[in-house]
Amino acid sequence: MSIPAGYRLVSTDVSRAAEVLHVTSFAFAFTPPVKDADFVTRIYPFEAGRALEVADASRGSVGTLAAAHTSFRFRLAVPGDRAIPTAGLTWVSVHPGHRRRGLLTTMIADHFSRSLERGEPISALYASETEIYQRFGYGLASRSGVIELANGTTFRDIAGSDDLIVEIDSASFDKHAGILRDVQSRMTRPGTIVDFEEVTVAEAFLDLEYEREGAEELRIVVVRDEDKPLAWALLSRKGAWELFGANGKVTVKAWGSVEARATARLMKVLTSFDLMSKAAIGHVPVDDEILHLLANPRGARQAILDNLWVRVLDVKAALEGRGYAADCDVTVDIADAQLPDNAGVWRVAVRDGEATITRVTGNGEADLAMNIQELGAAYLGGTSVSTLASAGLVSERRAGAAGELSRAMASDRAPLCNLDF
Ligand SMILES: CC(C)(COP(=O)(O)OP(=O)(O)OC[C@H]1O[C@@H](n2cnc3c(N)ncnc32)[C@H](O)[C@@H]1OP(=O)(O)O)[C@@H](O)C(=O)NCCC(=O)NCCS
Repeated sequence: MSIPAGYRLVSTDVSRAAEVLHVTSFAFAFTPPVKDADFVTRIYPFEAGRALEVADASRGSVGTLAAAHTSFRFRLAVPGDRAIPTAGLTWVSVHPGHRRRGLLTTMIADHFSRSLERGEPISALYASETEIYQRFGYGLASRSGVIELANGTTFRDIAGSDDLIVEIDSASFDKHAGILRDVQSRMTRPGTIVDFEEVTVAEAFLDLEYEREGAEELRIVVVRDEDKPLAWALLSRKGAWELFGANGKVTVKAWGSVEARATARLMKVLTSFDLMSKAAIGHVPVDDEILHLLANPRGARQAILDNLWVRVLDVKAALEGRGYAADCDVTVDIADAQLPDNAGVWRVAVRDGEATITRVTGNGEADLAMNIQELGAAYLGGTSVSTLASAGLVSERRAGAAGELSRAMASDRAPLCNLDF
């Protein structure tokens, strides 16, 4: 891995938290108030922290951090009711005084090799700007809906929904992180973080006073039956008094649910707070059941955003680690500029939901050709290989091969990651 002249790669443990916050606040243009400055120690996974520091006085003060990143280690649900070890790349920051010198490129190469060493066949991220990561092979693997529902929205009846228990409280990491862990572990939609270190959900509970902009402190709604929690939402309400009365707004920061009756009950609670006129809810799967339970679907304002970007780091382990919806037998020529071990022709043979992935040698032409970015886009089953072929991003050299691989890789539910990281 090449490192730009004048810098060196280092690990950043918690003793360098203030320096990490310094470079991050320069990259993302924020200044946390002094009294909140320790928040980074609660939400940053320092065990995986990496950085580039200045090694030559021509670049600045030797030993200062010029760039930093880290990654969460978790298991991500994938098609076929399975989960795969994943490196959740995050907090990618280059100080503006050191940008466009190749520091991000070095950090990505470092991230790939460390993730592979840890046995993580895929990396996933949320992009601050969508152009940045495509050059490194990340593909758009899931999309997320944002909906705005009017207070008092009517939902169709769903059996058992009204019998569930609802608890509303001030949100507390110590008290409620276990509820998130419990619910997430029973969710199976591809793209869900199902098994994680607690630090992964610490940011969801972050509630810095200076970021509230007049809204109340963070609250939590938990929907449960007698035995266990079934759904949760972290939210805040912002009251507003206008000439004709109350016009408050509910903003849902994050939510998750195991089953439809709990989702329906949760949505009813979120749209029935007194003095509120609407609720904004993000991280809605594009095929979510709630969209079918609205009595007036046209009454919901909706927008679709990009959600998770996936980078396949190890073709064989990644493709054998997920399940399949149909048999197939196709050869795929993969181009990978950063990880040459992935490049070349692979045979994808699927029988009864299980794939066997083998390297193909020889001169024969493969059925399909694609960049590793397209494999990442298709990986969670939310983007069809046929669509990518129609877009000219996958070349089909044997008629029907794109459809065959599409049907095998399809997911019966649209993928979505409901936790930001
Ligand atoms: C985005 C950021 C990480 C890039 O770091 P950097 O060290 O300047 O990037 P590099 O020098 O390694 O650039 C690598 C390539 O990506 C391109 N690139 C970098 N940032 C880009 C952006 N925001 N949009 C499009 N392309 C970008 C560069 O032009 C370069 O292309 P080239 O190889 O064709 O010349 C840095 O500008 C930053 O910290 N920005 C603010 C925080 C942020 O957005 N972080 C991402 C979090 S998801």
